[in-house]
Amino acid sequence: MNRRIRLRHLLYGLGGLAAAALVALWAGLMPVTASSGHWRITAWFLHWVMQNSVRTDALFVETPAEVDDPVLVRRAAGHFETACRFCHGAPGAPAGPLPFNMTPRPPGLEHAADAWSPAELFRIVGHGIKFSGMPAWPAPARDDEVWAMVAFLRALPQMDAADYAQLSGRAATADAGDSLPARAGCVACHGTDGGSDGGAVPVIGGQRTDYLAATLIDFRDGRRDGGIMQVATAGLDDDTIARLARHYAGQRPEPDPAAHADPERLAQGAAIISDGMPEARVPACSACHGAGGADPKPGIPRLAGQDAGYLATQLHLWRAGTRGGGPRAEVMTRAASGLSDADIRAVAAALARGEKGRGYRDTLPGGTAAPAAD
Ligand code: HEC
Ligand code: HEC
Ligand code: HEC
Repeated sequence: MNRRIRLRHLLYGLGGLAAAALVALWAGLMPVTASSGHWRITAWFLHWVMQNSVRTDALFVETPAEVDDPVLVRRAAGHFETACRFCHGAPGAPAGPLPFNMTPRPPGLEHAADAWSPAELFRIVGHGIKFSGMPAWPAPARDDEVWAMVAFLRALPQMDAADYAQLSGRAATADAGDSLPARAGCVACHGTDGGSDGGAVPVIGGQRTDYLAATLIDFRDGRRDGGIMQVATAGLDDDTIARLARHYAGQRPEPDPAAHADPERLAQGAAIISDGMPEARVPACSACHGAGGADPKPGIPRLAGQDAGYLATQLHLWRAGTRGGGPRAEVMTRAASGLSDADIRAVAAALARGEKGRGYRDTLPGGTAAPAAD
């Protein structure tokens, strides 16, 4: 009996406290101003909750073997400069003044790779952090891009200001002067000539003008999935896109040295390109992309001499149904659905090599002439 009364009093007490807290919140007595910061205990508590949540989330993430590939570091570095440095700062390039007044204040990331495992960084960069201003990756299906950023964060502690200027494209942009691709921010990642930088980005120099313009608009309008290029094209008008497409279509970048490829794999890839795989309902790629992928129909991309890793990633995205693209992208979802992982590797290697080793440059009219941009 006695015990019951005490329990009842306790419940009344708790109810009273909750009501008082509600009244205080209703009256606006809980400060949400960023300028007042957090009490120490609140900051500790929120960070503790965040850490536990990230650690649990990361239990189910499988870390790829190539998590420290330098190509991935280069792929993400330019995006770090445009999308992250403003809040977090980088070697030789401090954060902007506004994030300094955020609560919580965005931390420097030079020690993030010591504090977090690759899988934990993957969850943080992919999903962002609630109640903090740390954004999620803009393209939820692009795990490959998030892993590139994880590789960058893991390389960050060893970078000095000169490394960062070079990797992030700040140096290239400064060197490119006042050209349109420099003003539009493309030079940081694609250079002026649109070469592939060893596979960090796709070759766009010498690509068809109509395809370049269409796919840039697809990125900008969110029809093509890709966090890096969606950010890079946000805010570009159609006319600027048309001029950028003409600039890169007119370039003749130096091809990357041909990677060694197993002759059997190349032959298997070449057969799929010219004949398809009727039993798996895979059409001949050459029907639309031309022999060896070098002579495409209007609006369809040239594939000969493209980076093999990029081609394989696009085919995987298509097979998963997440690549997106223009009104004709559906034909690629169907074309890729019957390809196995081994078929994708073979076809990508053969296309990268180009027909009889003829890559982008050799199959283009105009040789190595590079018309100037406006
Ligand atoms: C608008 C500002 C803002 C932007 C932009 C931003 N972040 Fe953050 N980020 C934060 C804040 C604030 C935190 C701290 C969150 C916390 O501790 O609860 C954070 C935390 C992090 C952490 C965990 C750091 C640690 O040591 O706990 C990583 C890693 C990170 N961000 C990476 C990135 C990357 C990569 C990008 C770009 C794709 C990015 N951030 C863009 C604000 C930002
Ligand atoms: C931060 C680095 C970065 C910047 C800046 C950038 N790009 Fe890209 N670009 C990439 C990456 C990485 C890809 C591969 C995209 C993917 O996998 O979704 C790409 C893809 C492309 C493609 C698609 C190629 C294809 O074959 O479909 C085009 C076209 C392109 N970029 C043009 C541009 C132009 C024009 C600009 C300037 C407005 C620009 N990019 C700015 C990194 C960048
Ligand atoms: C019926 C015509 C057609 C056939 C057949 C076809 N493609 Fe395509 N392909 C397209 C079109 C159209 C696009 C551009 C889609 C878009 O982005 O809107 C494309 C784009 C691509 C891309 C993306 C290139 C880039 O720069 O991002 C790759 C890779 C590709 N195709 C590979 C293949 C392979 C491999 C085959 C054969 C197995 C094939 N295609 C067969 C029409 C075709």
